[in-house]
Amino acid sequence: MTDDTRGMLRATFPQLNADTLDGLVRAVRTVAYPAGTRLCTQGEEGRTFYILVQGHVGVFQRGERGTQQVDSLGPGQFFGGMSLLMDQPRNADVVASGDVQVIEIDREIFAQYIKSNPQIVVMLNQQLLQRVLSQEQRLLRALPGVPTEPDARQVFISYAREDQAFVYRLADELVQRGIAIWLDRQQIKPGSLWSEQIQAALDRSHMMVVVLSPQAVVSRNVADEWHYFLDEDKPIVPVLYELCRVPFQLRRIQHVAFAGADYEQALEQLVARLRDSGA
Ligand code: CMP
Repeated sequence: MTDDTRGMLRATFPQLNADTLDGLVRAVRTVAYPAGTRLCTQGEEGRTFYILVQGHVGVFQRGERGTQQVDSLGPGQFFGGMSLLMDQPRNADVVASGDVQVIEIDREIFAQYIKSNPQIVVMLNQQLLQRVLSQEQRLLRALPGVPTEPDARQVFISYAREDQAFVYRLADELVQRGIAIWLDRQQIKPGSLWSEQIQAALDRSHMMVVVLSPQAVVSRNVADEWHYFLDEDKPIVPVLYELCRVPFQLRRIQHVAFAGADYEQALEQLVARLRDSGA
């Protein structure tokens, strides 16, 4: 077990004394997962509590109006505790945005530790309340009749599945900057439900980021999405992820180039463009 694990556990549970912490260090495991791995599935039984050591995860809730990203978590943050504390099914999907490393604590061990250290429950409850409150504020902004703040305007991200590692990272960084996005992170399932969800998301979104690459410009789904946006006369910001032959209808729109550019600068440029358009 590495010092990193111990340090991370101590930072997460500062209430534990050195002996108790040693016991916990021996009881957990550190595991690496590739981008796109779903660590928690909404509606399923929770068996594990996670602390994120490296990388980012997105938190998604599925409802009648499709899938919404409700949060993005980074190193040092934890998740998967709600179902364990409340003895209820997982209330969200948690998906690795890029490659991640997590500390996993099994439900039984977690239960044992919170039983003998009730201060942990108080701390976890505070964190959960904070998250739920910020989600409630976001939901309130989306209610009809409630004045919509400019940052409540949603950006649809259209991309080719092959580019998902880049796109997931980009999406998380936009969320962290307060930009509301819609991004499908589920595998495409055949059937009408899927296209209905995409349709609803396209209608609800005020602007689109289309991520261009050799894969994206030959994707039928991506083309359908940006064509629909053009028809609806809604703003599109093309993002050039990899050099490719840009479709002529998109050439007249100024793009943000990530290909061959400094990532951070391109990101700031994109954020500025989206904010100018009201995101
Ligand atoms: P759990 O319900 O066990 O599994 C999914 C996890 O996602 C959940 O625990 C929380 O840790 C996390 N989660 C759920 N909803 C939110 C939210 N609104 N904001 C941030 N994290 C959340």
